[in-house]
Amino acid sequence: MLKKIKISVVGIGLMGQQHLKAINKSKFCVLHSVVEIKKHESKLIKRLNVPIYNNINYLIKENKPDAVIIATPNSLHEKHTIEFLKSKIPVLLEKPISDNIASAKKIIKASKIYRTPLLIGYHRRHNSIVNAVKKVIKSGKLGRIVSANVLFWLYKNKKYFKENWRTSKGGGPLGINLVHDLDIICFLLGPINYVQAFASNKIRKHKVEDTACVNLIFKSGALCTINISDTIVSPWSYELTAGENPAYPITNQSSYFIGGTKGSIKFPNISIWYYKKARSWWNLIDSKKIKIKKSRETLVNQIDHFSKVVQKKIKPKVTGEDGLISLKVFDAILKSSNLGKKIKL
Ligand SMILES: NC(=O)c1ccc[n+]([C@@H]2O[C@H](COP(=O)([O-])OP(=O)(O)OC[C@H]3O[C@@H](n4cnc5c(N)ncnc54)[C@H](O)[C@@H]3O)[C@@H](O)[C@H]2O)c1
Repeated sequence: MLKKIKISVVGIGLMGQQHLKAINKSKFCVLHSVVEIKKHESKLIKRLNVPIYNNINYLIKENKPDAVIIATPNSLHEKHTIEFLKSKIPVLLEKPISDNIASAKKIIKASKIYRTPLLIGYHRRHNSIVNAVKKVIKSGKLGRIVSANVLFWLYKNKKYFKENWRTSKGGGPLGINLVHDLDIICFLLGPINYVQAFASNKIRKHKVEDTACVNLIFKSGALCTINISDTIVSPWSYELTAGENPAYPITNQSSYFIGGTKGSIKFPNISIWYYKKARSWWNLIDSKKIKIKKSRETLVNQIDHFSKVVQKKIKPKVTGEDGLISLKVFDAILKSSNLGKKIKL
């Protein structure tokens, strides 16, 4: 058994609070402290019984943790992450890596210069379903991957938009939610060559998009469409189908559909479709559920993984470079929807 890692959480908002619960459930770490600029009244914070700081510099000077989780708004990621890396404190940084590419590159460089691990918080990569899908694709069972269809349709309520940053640049569903889907689809299908997108704010009328359609061409030649909206009442999004977070009641539907020349796969409610005999639309198509041990608590899996990364037992599963890839695709999507053009990556 490894020594328990002492972790500080910076930013105790929506996501920071999820991390506090995950730390509590992990066998590999304990909560060291929290850093938060707002005075929180929540019962959760009061019950923590750890030092609370309002500035990361006090934490670094007075009471260094073994590692930190940064869950502050995207525009603060660079400043906070580099401060910790400079002090040789490993960072689990919430996604997206930053709100712009130049800043993401600085973060990656700092991790290299200060030789301190950086893990990006794409927690779906710690889900056994996603890893099972990767295995099926790699095995060749689906043949050559031709196309994929990804849906992120759900309805965010009014309360969610009380934080101003969620209605301005980078705070919409492309920056907050789609980046997860981009990370998964790149993990599953490889690098992207071209992007074309349309975005709209017609329903919510915020400064950022509420809906978008994204077309991708992968280097392999495969195509993909991602259709995203936070103003549609629907059960089809990874959030509502994977059951990773009890905050989202599960719908037992799927939101990813990946098709190849020999078969197709859908997940998170995972099954594959194929012909037992000759491939033909006139023959009955078979389907098979894939039995896997579901790992629903992906934030706990992520923190267990991070604890081992901190002890330098393993390398980060999701690197700064991975974070940069999805950010670059995200940037190309914004450019494409603004210019009405196909963008080469
Ligand atoms: N992995 C996921 O599924 C997921 C989900 C939601 C959000 N996120 C990411 O988590 C991050 C936070 O998002 P959120 O929805 O929790 O936002 P939030 O606004 O709910 O929380 C951010 C918190 O950071 C605090 N904060 C701001 N400046 C600070 C500072 N200088 N020092 C300390 N604390 C400070 C705020 O007071 C707030 O409590 C973002 O990067 C977001 O993209 C990830």
